[in-house]
Amino acid sequence: MPAKAYALIPAAGSGTRVGAALPKQYLEVAGRPLLHYSVGTLARHPRIEQVFVVLTQGDERFARCDWREFGGRVEPLYCGGTTRAASVFNGLLAARDTMDGADWVLVHDAARPCLGRDELDRLFGELEDDETGGLLAVPVADTLKRANRETRVAATEPRDGLWLAQTPQMFRYRLLIEALRAADPAVATDEARAVEGLGLKPRLVLGDTRNIKVTFPEDLLLAELILANQKLAAKTLRKASTSRQDAKTPSKEKSNRNALKRKR
Ligand code: CTP
Ligand code: MG
Repeated sequence: MPAKAYALIPAAGSGTRVGAALPKQYLEVAGRPLLHYSVGTLARHPRIEQVFVVLTQGDERFARCDWREFGGRVEPLYCGGTTRAASVFNGLLAARDTMDGADWVLVHDAARPCLGRDELDRLFGELEDDETGGLLAVPVADTLKRANRETRVAATEPRDGLWLAQTPQMFRYRLLIEALRAADPAVATDEARAVEGLGLKPRLVLGDTRNIKVTFPEDLLLAELILANQKLAAKTLRKASTSRQDAKTPSKEKSNRNALKRKR
């Protein structure tokens, strides 16, 4: 039997770079806070038992959101720290009675609402039997320039072998908590960095450029467009599968069903 898997979402930041009145995880897109979308893809995945959300102590907004559609699989932990690494570490400690050392923990930014089901499937597919664990990431596509102090190009850097780290990042509970305990939070800006600090080499799993992190105000519009597009794609898929089923259904059954529909 594979190890159990849990998600942990650090959502205790203040979103200074977005510069809104609310912390960015509570900014709304199509009537729902960003956090709702980040939680949703994880909570709906069959491999994930529970989604823990790390909040600042005294957060009053989480309890006002409607989490019922996830049927009790979302649990707030009011123990956020002063850095992302501290929030994740505190969250892991707070969830220690639920998670075993060998269980998988998928750490995912609250500020990444556009995570897709396919990327999650790829993470599980590629890491389930991995010793170390790993993270979603995408190869760097643009040409890289190094700037000098006058903001002029000092050099063009080769981009071969460079990847942009995303989340979720998936590690075993025991390894992750050890790595974060040993890490300097200023250096360990993601879980992989903390694990690298132990001399290990996390695996890079191909992510998707649409799994953006909302960091600046203009990212919100982009997230809105990507989410609308995902919703449309899901609807089209549902429609296609209904009409495939319809095509397979014998015509007598179909006419009974239509008669029933007319009665209603
Ligand atoms: N985070 C956290 N605790 C902190 C800082 C950040 O849980 N002390 C979370 C954020 O809520 C976010 C994720 O870590 O989901 C990624 O961080 P980032 O994008 O930097 O968000 P903020 O720190 O909120 O934004 P900013 O750096 O612009 O203030
Ligand atoms: Mg930050």
